This record gives sequence, structure tokens and C-alpha cells, in this order.
Amino acid sequence: MCGIVGYVGYRDCSEVLVSALTKLEYRGYDSAGIAVFDNNEIKVAKSKGRLADLVEKMKTDGKPEGVAGIGHTRWATHGEPSDVNSHPHSGAKVTIVHNGIIENYKELKKFLTDKGAKFLSDTDTEVVAKLLGYYYKLNPGKPLDTIVETIKELEGSFALGVVFQDFPDVVYAVRRESPLIVGVGKNESFIASDVPAILQYTKDYYLLEHDEIAKLDCNGVEIFDEHGKKLEKELLTADWDMDAAEKGGYPHFMIKEIHEQPSSIKTTITPRISNGLPDLKECSIDLEKLRKFKQIFIVACGTAMHAGMVGKYVIEKLARVSVTVDIASEFRYREPLISKGDLVIIISQSGETADSLAAMRLAKKLGASTLAIVNAKGSSIAREADMLIYTHAGPEIAVASTKAYIVQLAVMYLFAFDLALAKGMIDEAECKRLTSILQDMPSLIETILETELENTQYVSNQLITAESLLYIGRGLDYALSMEGSLKLKEISYIHSESYAAGELKHGTISLITKDMPVIAVATQSALLDKTVSNIKEVKARGAKVILIARDDFNVDEDAYDYIVRVPKTEDLFMPIPAAVPLQLIAYYTSVLRGNDVDKPRNLAKSVTVE
Ligand code: M6R
Repeated sequence: MCGIVGYVGYRDCSEVLVSALTKLEYRGYDSAGIAVFDNNEIKVAKSKGRLADLVEKMKTDGKPEGVAGIGHTRWATHGEPSDVNSHPHSGAKVTIVHNGIIENYKELKKFLTDKGAKFLSDTDTEVVAKLLGYYYKLNPGKPLDTIVETIKELEGSFALGVVFQDFPDVVYAVRRESPLIVGVGKNESFIASDVPAILQYTKDYYLLEHDEIAKLDCNGVEIFDEHGKKLEKELLTADWDMDAAEKGGYPHFMIKEIHEQPSSIKTTITPRISNGLPDLKECSIDLEKLRKFKQIFIVACGTAMHAGMVGKYVIEKLARVSVTVDIASEFRYREPLISKGDLVIIISQSGETADSLAAMRLAKKLGASTLAIVNAKGSSIAREADMLIYTHAGPEIAVASTKAYIVQLAVMYLFAFDLALAKGMIDEAECKRLTSILQDMPSLIETILETELENTQYVSNQLITAESLLYIGRGLDYALSMEGSLKLKEISYIHSESYAAGELKHGTISLITKDMPVIAVATQSALLDKTVSNIKEVKARGAKVILIARDDFNVDEDAYDYIVRVPKTEDLFMPIPAAVPLQLIAYYTSVLRGNDVDKPRNLAKSVTVE
């Protein structure tokens, strides 16, 4: 959950590293550092805090000058954020940056300490640096052999950028589990944890696979397998452009990404619709295959899991197949009852979430078919799944997920229509009708973005002093409330919970006071009366109620304090437009509270550790 970069070329390396790291700060931002060959010496600059703090520090202390080096932005796992725990870390004649977790670092540390090594930091990374130093002494002048020997000893996940004192202007990289790409430009090359870091320099890159090692020098890039044997790899081209990784005039990535949702949905669903029907054949999904699945599990974390919750309602309603939604970290340890003939759907924006990846591997081991719904191209989950539907949201930089969630929903719907058709639960005409409603979603969202910005700002103003609040809803509104609540708490730091509205009176209603605002979601006509009764129950106990309701619903004015109207579509589809005001409320509340919207405290975009 850190970001690593590396550069070899002709530009000012410190500047390239800092600029590339700004695109990876979403992966971690509690400290940053770089190491650059400066007059053939490895010079390190690092500091606790944001990348901006490092830049300031280098203004005073001087920045390393050179054309090759490595860099890091950190999300602390082992050892608190501090100067000394910041990367890079060094061993004898070797300096590294690391993203991942070394699970056997304690054993390795003991081994190295017994050999006389002295450690400065609390990190697992320094153990790798010292181990590389140890093997380099055994293989002097042989960096590749040193890396080959070292990674044999490592357990866990890592993407490493490595420089050896004896080999100025050469950068090595190696990965296991944690993502890493190698960018190829004209007379320059790069390593990075994610594509946006290199987009301003090149779109061409290699995807490093498990235990592959890259060597970058003035002659270009060479890639080797875990035994040091040279490999020929396919050069890929990123289809994301630079603008996708820039704010483009918006104050924050989050609000930019909220506005990108209509186009993200279009780009995701349009290529998967032919003759008005879902067409997932290019994702290896056909009607014959779909017909055979007995039960479905949806496994994911955070927002992606919430998309799965909506998916459950939609799939069960349309296809009449039982769907269980699991949090990946629970699924992987609960000995799930799945077997051949079951389908496990893994949803993930990053495609690198450690628990989701482990859950998918478990599902495969148990004989289930796996379908990944993933945004990041070439990510581990995407590569290992049996079937794959890419969402085309483009890079999502804000830590709080918005456009990735919307396209996950869109794919859930498309999949549900296809499955319902395959199972004979709907006919082609109905499937076409549903598909065409889905195609209307971008314009509904555009309407909300035109009409509700001020209204949601007003609502956020009412929330900024709250210490705690509740989101309530029934059915699909409850599934959506979960996401609304997560969005608000992760960026506003206001405690909030989502609750099934009908469940309130079984305990939670005792929390209601005038100081506990309630955001009630009511978009389902069949459940409206029931939800309104629950709203009145909390209103009667003094709660300030903010109602998110379909625009044609008639609700007594005394049942709520503020209302946000959501343009009408069929009940089943309402979570898609209704998600937008919930995102906006979270966004404005965070802005009004003066928080760092795109980089909320303690979080990182891609959770590659358990
Ligand atoms: O990359 P993934 O979709 O697998 O990530 C899952 C969660 O970590 C992620 O959705 C997280 O909950 C976000 N901070 C939500 O905004």
C-alpha cells in the first residue's frame, strides 16, 4: 500500500521521481523518499509527511542530482511514520524502496542480527535491504544473482526498486504479489506501482509478473525470470491519457471523478451491448455457461462489496439465483461452502486488494468458477480470474471510490440481465427493455449533477457539526445506504452507520436524539410506506431527517427536514442515480470540514496487505 517509482534516463531524476510519486500519493502519504545516483554515490533524501514536505526539505538540504534513482511514498505497516522508517532503506552497498509486506521478516531479522547486522528502523523493508547486502557480499559484482538469491528467502508480498552502489545509473526491480510496471520511453525507462505515474513520459510499459526481475540502464530494459534467465515480454500500451490522471480544473479528484460517472458508465457498458442485449462473450461469459451456475457468491471489500450488495438484490430479483455477499477478509477464513458449479464473483477497483485476491484463489482451489470485475488493467485479480469483465472507469485517484463504484453497479446489472436471460427468467424483449433503461443512466446522473450540487452542499452544511449519524433504507435503499455511510465516514471523519430501516426499533433507535441526523433513502415504491413509517419514528424522537427520495414520491413534509430529489427511473435501477447525491453529500461535508478530501487520514487507495 505504498507507491514505488524508479527512473533511468537523461532528465533530472529527482524531479522525475517526485513528479511520478505525486501520481501515486493515493497509495500512501505518511512519508516519502528518494535515492539518486549523485556523482556515482547513492544519495538519499527522505522525510515523514507528505511528498510536499520532502520537496521542502530538499529545498533546504539540497536535492540529489543525477539521472537514475528510485522513490517511495509510504503507508506505514511496520513502524510508525517517521523520518527513520521512511524509505529508501539500505544494506551493504544496496538501497531499496518497497511496497508490500514481508511476512517472515522477524526470522530474517534474527538471522541477519546473528550475522552482525544493525538495524536503524522498525520496518520489514530494512530487513530486505540488509538481506540483499548479505547476498551481495556472497555474490560480489553480481546484482542479478543477488536478487535471485534474496527473493528465494522472502515470504509475503513485495515490489522492490533496488540500486547497487557498484552499478551507478542502473535500477533493478522485482515483484511478487504487489503490482509493478516497467515503462519504456525514448532513451529513458521507469518503474512504477501504477500506470498514471509514468503517463506524462510514456504510455508503453511491461507488466512484471510474479518473481520477474527488471534491469533498467542506459541501453533500455531487460527482464529476467526468478532464476535470472532472460525473458521476451510483450510491450503493452496504456489506453489512459494524461488528463485522466490530472484534476482538470476541479479542486479535488473526487469531485472530478463524480462528474466522470456518466462517461464511465457509457464506456463500460457500450462495448458489452449488441443488438440491444448484453453481450459478455468477449469476457468469456456465454449463456450456456451462465445456465449451469448453481449459486453465486460475491466477494469484495469496502465499496466494491457494497456494489456486490446491490448486485445481490438485482441478480436474485431477475435471475432467481441465490447470491451470498461476503466481505473478502471473512470469506477467506470461514471455510465457505462452495464447490464446482458455483460462481464466485470478485469485485475490485484496484485488482490488487490482498483479501479479495486471496478469496479468489481460495474459490478456485475449491473448484468454483471465478469472475473478476476489475478496473485496473493487468492487475493480479484480473490476470488470475477464469472470466473477466473490465470496468472502464479510467484511473480513480481519490481514495474514496465513486466512479469505480458506479461502473461496478452497471456491470452487476448487465450481468444480472444476461443471467436472467440464460436462466429463462426473462425473455429477450424484457432483457432489451432492461438494457435500454441501463443505457439511460448516464443522462440521469448528468441531470443530478446539473441540479443537485447546491442542494447537497446545503445538506452538508447541516451535517458538519454532527458527531454521529445514521443512514437508513430498505431493500436496495439499504444496500445503497451502506455505501453512502462509508463514503461519508471515510472522508468527513464523522461516525456513521447504515441500518436496515425496519431493524431500527430492535435496538438502535435508542441512539436517536436531536443531535443524531438521519439520512433516509427512499427510492423504492413498493417499500415507500414502510420506510416513511420508520422515518417518522426517528423524527418523532427528535432526529433531523435528510430524505433522499425519488422525485415523484409524495412524502408528508413534516416527515423530513431537508429533501434531495432523485430523478425517477424504475425501482430496480434507482441505486445508480441515488448514489450520486450520497457521494456529493460526503464530498461537500469533507470539504466544509476542511479535510484532505482525496487523501483521508489513515487510508490508502489499494489495500495490498491483510
Ligand atoms: O480496489 P478495491 O476495489 O478492491 O478496494 C476495496 C476497498 O478497499 C475500497 O473500496 C475502499 O473501501 C475505498 N476506500 C472506498 O471508498
